Amino acid sequence: MVPHTYLIELGRETLLCAAECARLLQWQEPACRLEAIAPHVLLVESEPELQPDFWDMFGGVVRVARCIGKIQELTADGLLSLEDSASRFESGNRIVFGLSVFGDKNIPSKELLVSLLNQVKDRFRERGISSRYLEPRGKETVLTSAQVGESRMLDAGFEWTAVKGREGWRIGSTCWIQDYSGQSTRDYQRPRADPRSGMLPPKLARIMVNLARGPQTRTLLDPFCGSGGILMEAILLGLDPTALDRDLEAVKSARENCDWLQKYAKRKLPVVRYTQGDATEMRHYFEPLSFDCVVTEPYLGPPLTREPSPARAKQVVRELSDLYREVLAEIRIVTRPGGGVVFVTPSFRDTEGNEHAIPLGLTARLAGYRSSDPLGNIAYVEWFGIPAEIVKQARRGMLRYSRQGQHLTRWIYVMES
Ligand SMILES: C[S@@+](CC[C@H](N)C(=O)[O-])C[C@H]1O[C@@H](n2cnc3c(N)ncnc32)[C@H](O)[C@@H]1O
Repeated sequence: MVPHTYLIELGRETLLCAAECARLLQWQEPACRLEAIAPHVLLVESEPELQPDFWDMFGGVVRVARCIGKIQELTADGLLSLEDSASRFESGNRIVFGLSVFGDKNIPSKELLVSLLNQVKDRFRERGISSRYLEPRGKETVLTSAQVGESRMLDAGFEWTAVKGREGWRIGSTCWIQDYSGQSTRDYQRPRADPRSGMLPPKLARIMVNLARGPQTRTLLDPFCGSGGILMEAILLGLDPTALDRDLEAVKSARENCDWLQKYAKRKLPVVRYTQGDATEMRHYFEPLSFDCVVTEPYLGPPLTREPSPARAKQVVRELSDLYREVLAEIRIVTRPGGGVVFVTPSFRDTEGNEHAIPLGLTARLAGYRSSDPLGNIAYVEWFGIPAEIVKQARRGMLRYSRQGQHLTRWIYVMES
């Protein structure tokens, strides 16, 4: 049977997003085939058709296109020769369409892309179809998911996703885009925010939960819950989360945010259990082996408004290393064997430009954790165009997340208890 082939646009942190795909797609029966074909683009071959509600689970996927064919050159006639997206319209239709082009530096310029869009529009006019197109912003060659969503292009028209990859041009018809408005609402409109202790972006929290869970996972613990970013994503995915934080105000914030989400989501979500307490004493609050997985962004040190001195940076690293060692030991006690553990650590530069990290690998191994390659069976990872050293770290279970303008880089450790 010919499998369904999808072109997946991954978010900015390609390896983190690819790891999420590897994790969730490995649950499919029979297994999917995954292949990196261009920067930010993963090709997925799946025997069953993958429905929109499947893609709704993801935090790191930006758009999904159903592959409709391959062409040697990216031309208007080449695109229009493919069955599907454009061929289903008839004379008298009014449509809106778009084209997003992915690949390495040798893809056509924005000017060429616009001239191609105009040629397609002319061909539609010749067929009696009234059309308008949307072009990417500035010098970009990719429409944002908000542009695609707000134009209603996927209902009243179509978008081609064109990828210049390992075997010429693969063309897809976009069939799903990320829920950019839901993510932004959860990020900016939740009632309680605590920028001082840091808040995880919903996309990252969602990816972390997905990296920790398996098809049978029900219970999740976040022992440093803060204002509840991880809990919110966990209940949206139908898990039963437990929240712990040393600070009573944080516990109240998490509760308020999750209660707000219950109303906002307009569907019944699982109920969160809250406990105030210290993560280094978890065994006093929870039964041994009570959680299927643990996902947490622990205390990351004092807020960094500017770089610390080298001596201060070393002190912070020592304090955090001690805290993380203790907490990892506690997590092993309350998590069932084989349960997924996703744990964030920071790295930052000092005033002299030295990078300071809190390496968790040895501590975790000594505490009995195992790590498997989060990139799993993705073929040709080098086609993402990411430096080999970063890929090597990712394969050891350390995935990087950084944001422009932030002093702090987050390292997402993916382990098994
Ligand atoms: C980086 S914040 C977590 C932010 C959270 N991920 C969010 O999105 O809102 C760390 C949290 O750990 C809590 N904390 C610090 N030390 C703790 C400890 N020993 N045990 C439990 N919670 C602690 C702080 O009160 C803070 O709320």
